[in-house]
Amino acid sequence: MTASRTQVGIIGGGPSGLLLSQLLDLAGVDNVVLERRSRDYVLARVRAGVIEQGVVKILRAAGVGARLDREGLLHHGVEIAAGEARYHIDFAAQGASLTVYGQTELTKDLVEAREARGGTLVYEAGDVAIEGVDGKQPRLHYRKDGVSHVLGCDFVAGCDGFHGVSRKSIPANVLKMHERVYPFGWLGVLADVPPVLPELIYASHERGFALCSMRSATRSRCYVQCALDDDAEQWSDARFWDELRARLPAEVARQVRTAPAIEKSIAPLRSFVAEPLRHGQLLLAGDAAHIVPPTGAKGLNLAVRDVDQLAAALIAHYRETSDALLDEYSATALRRIWKAERFSAWLTSVLHVFPGRSSFDRRMQLAELDQLASSAAARAAFVESYTGAALLS
Ligand code: FAD
Ligand code: DHB
Repeated sequence: MTASRTQVGIIGGGPSGLLLSQLLDLAGVDNVVLERRSRDYVLARVRAGVIEQGVVKILRAAGVGARLDREGLLHHGVEIAAGEARYHIDFAAQGASLTVYGQTELTKDLVEAREARGGTLVYEAGDVAIEGVDGKQPRLHYRKDGVSHVLGCDFVAGCDGFHGVSRKSIPANVLKMHERVYPFGWLGVLADVPPVLPELIYASHERGFALCSMRSATRSRCYVQCALDDDAEQWSDARFWDELRARLPAEVARQVRTAPAIEKSIAPLRSFVAEPLRHGQLLLAGDAAHIVPPTGAKGLNLAVRDVDQLAAALIAHYRETSDALLDEYSATALRRIWKAERFSAWLTSVLHVFPGRSSFDRRMQLAELDQLASSAAARAAFVESYTGAALLS
């Protein structure tokens, strides 16, 4: 058995854990990241793609904005379709924009930045267990290559995603969980075909929801709503492209080019918030604390904002010996998180086919979209939430 010490022990080497590690290190706060998976596995995961401008600023300040600024695609609007109807929503009136840049690329930038600064990232750290967060000296136990390790720390940052150990270490009488599980999933395909349109298009259709996003001028990321018990293997490439075309307005469907899937996976949809985000010396951030359905493209953005706030609080603890920000972390973050939950749940409810829905339910969805099309105030509210413009300052 080996024993070592750090100031902040970070569980999880996804975007939240890596960014927290980078921000703390830049401020001289010592930290260690324990990641269950291998480096290759973490770098290959395909997930989100839309980054808010406020989040781009945070990433630049963390020293990981250079490739994002070079290769990210700046978007000034988005399209929403319902059957053959198409609505364009312009962000420019509010001076807002979004950057389309894959989470896979961001993770690569973060890993490279950590390695360049000599950060301690422990991959394939098994059986991570948290001890003593109620006291001042918590300890993290883990196994690596058959050897047991103990890492003593001042704080534990739970950045280990929805299925991690951190949230589960908080006693049941302390933790409140709020959840909505949706009766469908998203099948996502990554393929080397040009984007169907210059902007993203979200489609609400009788056959189910569809989304065409992109990673570059030659690479698309597209999704279709699917059954929860579908297996990605049941979806041949041909079936996927046919289904995507069937859900898009005809003139857009004609633009769809097909190619073999580079990656194909199914994600369940869930809304989830755990409260509070702090228990003693344990602090939760990102998917460990909350999940949004992907419709609003908020998951990664929320995670980065949590971490920015948490890093500032931990840095203030060490530099200014002030715990005011740490004490406020949970309440302040939760206000922001609940607003993103609201938007993500609303957009999900407007765009998807729910089992057993009535003709009244469908008319409500279409009226919501008509409201967006016809009311500048409704569009402004949408843009504020979708782009995170209200959080820019
Ligand atoms: P994660 O990325 O989940 O990282 C957590 C890390 O902790 C992982 O590397 C994991 O291996 C590690 N870990 C877990 N348990 C342990 C343990 N016990 N010990 C040590 N390490 C552990 N968002 C969007 O906006 N759009 C999308 O299209 C979209 N698609 C998604 C598809 C899927 C399948 C999933 C799961 C999420 C998707 N998201 C999407 C959400 C977005 O990707 C997440 O919000 C984002 O990854 C959150 O980052 P995180 O670092 O908090 O969590
Ligand atoms: C992407 C994912 C989303 O969930 C979304 O709302 C928009 C884009 C993407 O993977 O590009």
